[in-house]
Amino acid sequence: MHICFELSGENRTLPAAEVYASLFAEEIRYRVVKQDQRVIIVKIDKNNATKLQLLGERLSMTHRIYQVVTTSAPEKQAVLDVINRIDISRFIKQGQTYCVRVRRLEPCPLIKTPQVLEPEIGEIIYRYGNSANLQTPDVCFKLLLISKMAIFGILLHSINRSSFEERKPKNKPFFYPGVLMPRISRTLINLCEIKKNELLLDPFCGTAGILVEAGLLNVDVIGSDIQWKIVSGAKMNLEYYLKKYTLMYQDAAHLALKDESVDAVVTDPPYGRSTRIKSVETKKLIEDSIKEIWRVLKKGRKAGIVYKEKIDEVITGAGFSIVEYHQERVHKSLTRHLYIIKKE
Ligand SMILES: C[S@@+](CC[C@H](N)C(=O)[O-])C[C@H]1O[C@@H](n2cnc3c(N)ncnc32)[C@H](O)[C@@H]1O
Repeated sequence: MHICFELSGENRTLPAAEVYASLFAEEIRYRVVKQDQRVIIVKIDKNNATKLQLLGERLSMTHRIYQVVTTSAPEKQAVLDVINRIDISRFIKQGQTYCVRVRRLEPCPLIKTPQVLEPEIGEIIYRYGNSANLQTPDVCFKLLLISKMAIFGILLHSINRSSFEERKPKNKPFFYPGVLMPRISRTLINLCEIKKNELLLDPFCGTAGILVEAGLLNVDVIGSDIQWKIVSGAKMNLEYYLKKYTLMYQDAAHLALKDESVDAVVTDPPYGRSTRIKSVETKKLIEDSIKEIWRVLKKGRKAGIVYKEKIDEVITGAGFSIVEYHQERVHKSLTRHLYIIKKE
């Protein structure tokens, strides 16, 4: 079956990378059929369809997941022709209600008023004996329009993006400014391909934003910070969201953890701007802590590191290979550099 991911488009590279890493983490084998700035279509085995629910719960930079019914050129008559040709009864049972929605994700010069297609497609489905229900339909058909294609599908999952908004740093019991937003934290966690019940470490945990996002995926989490006040604030946040976690009051450059004992590391070290650094000056701290991450991470596993500037040499100098690199522009004077690195 063909599955379409409607990407958020909030970043040029992260949404697509998150989809592929999450498919891998949930052990869903796939073949890429189409990748565009706003959509990805993959072919998966039908037996994996039930696992798509897990993706719906884990993705943060995707809006919705669909089963693809058919595709056509982004032109009104072409869309109606392909939908007329398919056997809709394969996708909706007798007695089920439906609605049809059209969503333009990119400019489509050949379809000037997309909404006029909703009743016309609805009419085709109505001929199969099903009735429309715009409020609570059993099946929601959706036509997605991108500049080079129209994708007609059935909505399988809507990602609960508002839950990420609710967990914004300011809404948590303990807050300090300048920390990562939950969606970016979740994306980094997904890019490390961590699975349920595996162990994720954040050695610069701050307010525990990363740990909360990982814990909500039923990943075991362990964090540390060098400021006692921050550790107790992190505890307040973890208590609020999670049942299980481990916190340490420790220097990220000297962790009391065994060699190769964690499955993933995701961290946002201090940039040397607003956060207080106790051990050594920033550059040395970054070098030492990345060496320490290499020591505690299991072989073949990944870490996600965010920093204010490029640190390729520090990463490779510690023995890691860089498997992905992304950027997030925060404001005029801060672009975050996001590395996914692997201990080969
Ligand atoms: C950018 S903040 C982390 C923000 C975090 N991602 C969050 O969601 O709040 C960096 C954190 O590193 C901590 N830190 C600074 N030096 C450290 C060290 N040597 N070892 C461990 N933590 C340290 C600071 O106290 C600060 O809380």
